[in-house]
Amino acid sequence: MSDITVTKVKQVGVLPTDKELGFGTIFTDHMFVMDYTTGKGWHSPRIVPYAECANYPAMIVFHYGQAIFEGMKAFRTEDNRICVFRPYEYLNRFNRSAEKLCIPKMDVEQIHDALFQLLALEKNWVPGQLGTSLYIRPFVVADEPHLGVKVADSFKLYIILSPVGAYYKTGFNPVSIKVEDKYVRAIKGGLGEAKTPANYAMSLAAQQDAYAEGFGQVLWLDAVHRKYIEEVGTMNILFKINGEIITPELNGSILGGITRKTVLELSRSWGLKTTERQISIDEVYDAYAKGQLDEVFGSGTAAVISPVGELSWKGQRIVINHNQTGPYAQKLFDYITGVQSGKIADQFGWMEE
Ligand code: COI
Repeated sequence: MSDITVTKVKQVGVLPTDKELGFGTIFTDHMFVMDYTTGKGWHSPRIVPYAECANYPAMIVFHYGQAIFEGMKAFRTEDNRICVFRPYEYLNRFNRSAEKLCIPKMDVEQIHDALFQLLALEKNWVPGQLGTSLYIRPFVVADEPHLGVKVADSFKLYIILSPVGAYYKTGFNPVSIKVEDKYVRAIKGGLGEAKTPANYAMSLAAQQDAYAEGFGQVLWLDAVHRKYIEEVGTMNILFKINGEIITPELNGSILGGITRKTVLELSRSWGLKTTERQISIDEVYDAYAKGQLDEVFGSGTAAVISPVGELSWKGQRIVINHNQTGPYAQKLFDYITGVQSGKIADQFGWMEE
């Protein structure tokens, strides 16, 4: 790999106080950029000041959405080390998304090195309070100006960094969820398992309708039978039914979440029966009727664990665990955020300094 050139800002910025941190509105001084050109491959890796990018209005991503992204986090531990949570998991998923979107494969080691070099430069931007982190957003866009629908011949990869607080303003509180029966998020054979903007654009109308009806998020059902559970909002979903952890299997339309994987690994290590399989909304309502629906929660990088307090499906409302955060969701949240903050020993080797 050619060496990364570094152009520094003249004046560094200041990390806002923890209270001022929202999600994804403040950016650090520098970013990483690299180009791809057909015939030349990925080239010209550089760290440059974070700034507006000059782009042609005709570039393919603006018109046809050829783009992918990732979202991971770096933490300042209690003993003042800077650690990234499971970076290789995210970077390997980045390449899996690239394949789905016909974006040229990246060298994971190269991106990993670039990220850690960028983080070393931006270490003062990593907040330290529990619940805060430096959110890392790598993304690739097709930047060839061309109005024909085709795989682009040039791309740009960026890594930008944003100090963040809690994802949901309401904090770690149960959310009421509308089981979506009008819109679908993804279909097998489509883009559902890739982290690509289209899936998030797809979710907006449903999210707006749900907000207007007083819900916090939607629960997505499969597109064919409108029966099997897929995801919740932009997160994976897990159920604790009669002591067993059940989550929809990765079937091609569901994103393979790194927090989902972490929850499954943890649950197995704690001796809980943990199953990835098709689960229908009827089964969840039946479990509720039998008094066996212990807990429901979402998992994602941004919010970590998000308890579900209520489900509403075709007008039938069920209240889960008295609309309180369940003990298992709490235990998972405390453990994962504990490892991330350095309070709990990293037995699984998740944190990379
Ligand atoms: C997550 O990290 O859980 C998400 O998918 C949300 C992100 C796109 C902001």
